[in-house]
Amino acid sequence: MEPMESTLESHDVAKKPEVADVDLTKIGNNLLLKFHALMRMSRTYDSKNVALVQFIQESLKMINSFIEREGSFSLKIIRDDLYMNQQMLRYSVEGFNSFKYLLAQWKKRFIGEIIFKEPVDERILRAFIYTLVDLEEGGERNATRFNETMKQGGISAIQVNPLETFEGEDGVYTLRKGDLKEVARKIFFETIGTVKEVVTQIKGDQHADVRKLKRLAQKMIHIIVEDESILLGLTTIKNYDEYTYNHSVNVSIYALAIGRRLGFSRETLTELGLTALFHDVGKSKIPIEVLNKPGALDEKEWALMKKHPMAGVEAVLNLKQLGEINPKMVIGIFDHHLKYNLTGYPNLHHKKETSLFGRILQIVDAYDAMTTPRVYKKVPFTLEQTLAIMQKESGIHFDPILLKVFVNLVGVFPVGSLVLLDSGDVGIVYKAHPDPKWIDRPQVILLAKDGTEESRTFIDLSETDSDGHFKWSIVKTLDPNQHHIDVAKYFL
Ligand SMILES: [Fe+2]
Ligand SMILES: [Fe+2]
Repeated sequence: MEPMESTLESHDVAKKPEVADVDLTKIGNNLLLKFHALMRMSRTYDSKNVALVQFIQESLKMINSFIEREGSFSLKIIRDDLYMNQQMLRYSVEGFNSFKYLLAQWKKRFIGEIIFKEPVDERILRAFIYTLVDLEEGGERNATRFNETMKQGGISAIQVNPLETFEGEDGVYTLRKGDLKEVARKIFFETIGTVKEVVTQIKGDQHADVRKLKRLAQKMIHIIVEDESILLGLTTIKNYDEYTYNHSVNVSIYALAIGRRLGFSRETLTELGLTALFHDVGKSKIPIEVLNKPGALDEKEWALMKKHPMAGVEAVLNLKQLGEINPKMVIGIFDHHLKYNLTGYPNLHHKKETSLFGRILQIVDAYDAMTTPRVYKKVPFTLEQTLAIMQKESGIHFDPILLKVFVNLVGVFPVGSLVLLDSGDVGIVYKAHPDPKWIDRPQVILLAKDGTEESRTFIDLSETDSDGHFKWSIVKTLDPNQHHIDVAKYFL
């Protein structure tokens, strides 16, 4: 075993997750899911419904064990964030819908905080949910009314406080300096949700809201222009269950980053972003068994798979809001599996040059697909392996110039790479160095040796000591899968 490897072992970073943080995120997201479901169920189910009763029992268990451990339980809205017992809640992909739902429902009712002061029983939890749901939307005195109702029912365990409003708050997302990262996260998850929504609508031949997706693409562009490393970091999230939607958003982030380097106007960037979000929409017409087949596809299945670019073109041309779509976008979707040397699919009777959008998509689509675990390849390629494989295909599969732009953009060590430093420390590449001459000296988060998040340190590999020597250098990259490190967690 190499000595460097054993250093990693001794840190034990792989086996010791950041307990407190992971725990809180998990419990918090679980509780959000429970409250979300309780609010929805209480509206549709009869109060004696078996499923509801069972669900209430489950929720009680979870809430009470949290209260017993922490002394109390509170959820507070501050601007567009939820704080659980004074700690800002990081949400997961699965938790995002609940997060959005609760935020919207409570805001509408001017409820800003709920506090469980002691463990509760079924009667109290039911009273809480029903009273909350019954509050009228827009009632400014709702918090007082809620507390009075509880008091009348002899309940003192739960209290709510009115929503605090902040100066200059407008709409759901207010872009403020300093919390661009927060905004980016919300937009990222909302875009995944919206792609899913739109694809489902297209699949069911329903009206699909392209404009909503377009607005989200514009927001992503805004963030990429401000600081592209934030969204690039989020592409390390590889959500297995929502693969197609997550993939489309990742592809669109990489595509936009390339487009920006090529000097595209905002308008062209929006078109490119939307094309990327739609590039695999044709897959909605392919049976799920074929899409998720663990083994190799047989001839018939391949034939089906190869139809998805054309099916995507058809789907997009059938959109009601066709005004948002232009030929560049349609051709981009058609071309996205057509290689640089014109092999690939669909089969062309008349050879033509692949479009610029198509050539960009080829690169970013392959990169994201290769770096994501799939049913038929559970352990994906590392970022470094992926780039090496892609380099070999330069001029064959990929446009050589665009590939250079892309490699420059992700760097020698792409954001999200796990790296071993000459100090023996292990880190995760967090951000490319702003100066291209330091392409191999990115900013890195050091993984804490004791496995806690508190001691997380950011270092800049271009820093030198008083003798002019670099303080740290990368020795090699490591495979996060092999070391059981969830890289995405560092970007959430
Ligand atoms: Fe595709
Ligand atoms: Fe794709």
